[in-house]
Amino acid sequence: MSITTTPITPDIDLYLEQMFSNEDDLLRQLRIDAEQQGIPSISIGAVQAQFLSVYLRSMNAKRGIEIGSLAGYSAITLLRALPTDGHLYCYERNPEYAMFLENQIAKAGFTNNTTIVVGNATETLAQFPEQETVDFIFIDANKEAYADYVLQTFPFLKKGGVVIADNTLAWGDIAKNDVSKTVASLQKFNTFMKEHQGFLTTLVPLGDGMTIGVKL
Ligand code: DHB
Ligand code: MG
Repeated sequence: MSITTTPITPDIDLYLEQMFSNEDDLLRQLRIDAEQQGIPSISIGAVQAQFLSVYLRSMNAKRGIEIGSLAGYSAITLLRALPTDGHLYCYERNPEYAMFLENQIAKAGFTNNTTIVVGNATETLAQFPEQETVDFIFIDANKEAYADYVLQTFPFLKKGGVVIADNTLAWGDIAKNDVSKTVASLQKFNTFMKEHQGFLTTLVPLGDGMTIGVKL
């Protein structure tokens, strides 16, 4: 017997998509409408979305922070995994994307469960409500600021809570040398999480990879 890793070939990728995603009409339409409005098609994939749903439900997550909400695909996914009194703080830099996001969240019925904060998260996070604590931080924004986002939100994250960061396989370039500034930032981020004494960290290679650290 040997220890092997099964590569995710295109046929396996399709299999995962067919078996373990359940994108509904609202999210399908959101993707179409977002593209029509010129919002980049860079949301998480449907398989990643279902993974996040399973994960948040398994940990009974109630409140979280999302940094980089874009059109709201992941925000709605995360909100659907929370109880009816759950709450998600959405940080989005682009005011036009934030307006689209607000409409989509209303359409999905989560207006009362959501706080949208518009602006650069490294600045706006400084005003995060002091007494509030959260079960998770989902990071999918400026790749060069991932470690800063973690440092800024660390005090609000409960013990046993998780940081989940998207794109940590860096479009396939994470293990390469002589990479772009963005890829180098993601390499540094993974090392930062691995070495941070306050987290136990793994990387789940679904979609473009999600680094997940549980707060010890
Ligand atoms: C891209 C993908 C992402 O998931 C993201 O957060 C940012 C950029 C991209 O493919 O360019
Ligand atoms: Mg992403």
